[in-house]
Amino acid sequence: MDAVHKPRNIDYKGTANLVTDTDRRSELAIQEVVREKFKDHLILGEEGGFTGDPTSEYLWCIDPLDGTTNFAHGYPSFAVSVGVLYRGKPAAASVVEFAGGPLCWVTRTFSACAGGGAFCNGQQIHVSSTNEIERSLLVTGFGYEHDEAWAENITLFKEFTDVSRGVRRLGAAAVDMCHVALGIVEAYWEYRLKPWDMAAGALIVEEAGGMVTCMDGSDFCVFDRSILVSNGTLHEKLLERIAPPTKKLQQNGMDISHWFKPEDYKSDV
Ligand code: IPD
Ligand code: CA
Ligand code: CA
Repeated sequence: MDAVHKPRNIDYKGTANLVTDTDRRSELAIQEVVREKFKDHLILGEEGGFTGDPTSEYLWCIDPLDGTTNFAHGYPSFAVSVGVLYRGKPAAASVVEFAGGPLCWVTRTFSACAGGGAFCNGQQIHVSSTNEIERSLLVTGFGYEHDEAWAENITLFKEFTDVSRGVRRLGAAAVDMCHVALGIVEAYWEYRLKPWDMAAGALIVEEAGGMVTCMDGSDFCVFDRSILVSNGTLHEKLLERIAPPTKKLQQNGMDISHWFKPEDYKSDV
């Protein structure tokens, strides 16, 4: 929390892809705790790549600061997101959301473990029961790769804005997913994400009673590059509008023949 009150020290990974000292320090602090308690686990951090035992069945996916651009501007919201996979499947998750903004920063902590429900500040949470797109508030995101999928999502943004109550674009994937779990929005989707963006949020939505797939409707895996999460009730209706144009885009997913292939997850790709 201290860092939100201090000037930011900003570097660039790309023209609009920022990284701050806080991203790096947050990752080191999380790594230290994981290493101390689970020294034989494998860690994948956005800033540091893979560390630890590559033969481990546990993989910690760490986004030390999700929504770095928001953090750099003091704009809510952003988060620290940690998801643990066991044999490639999400097993435990925690997302600490920073909300409010200058003069009134607050945090709330989302957590889940497989089969154990989802919680916000210790209270069990559930997705909404809205069953019509026309009565839904939706969220999406636009990443740093301005490619075919990015252009396709501009089209989806327009289409869903037309048929729903609105499409928000907050700028922190983990937070967006937690908001679906909390039942304050009905669905979130995005292309070209990385494992650390999705591992925690996907489990939290699932454990809150929602549904998680790739954008073409196929089974979700953190090593794919797209995600659609919803309250479940709306999932098919959303896919009917999304799936046809995205079938070909999905094929650009990461190669997961070896699910820990360090070269696929370097922070600068
Ligand atoms: C980004 C945020 C953003 C999403 C991008 C992500 P970062 O993560 O989650 O909402 O649109 O695709 O890369 O870089 O702030 O950790
Ligand atoms: Ca992120
Ligand atoms: Ca990040």
